[in-house]
Amino acid sequence: MNTQPVIGICHGPRCGDYGGRALAKGLMERSIDFDLLPCQSLCPHAPIARLDGDVLHHTNLEQVLDSL
Ligand code: FES
Repeated sequence: MNTQPVIGICHGPRCGDYGGRALAKGLMERSIDFDLLPCQSLCPHAPIARLDGDVLHHTNLEQVLDSL
């Protein structure tokens, strides 16, 4: 049974510049599936990630990995 949450990484311009691209790269390097999301209108909280229904604000790779 796969219990990994559905991961979405914002790939909008602000999140990308504030760490979203590095976050996506880190997940790819670990072969962890995720979706690239358009701007989520949460730019002041960049970078953001969605894990199922939860939103992680000002997140990073370590926080996402800890949430899996
Ligand atoms: S660019 Fe990520 S919320 Fe706008």
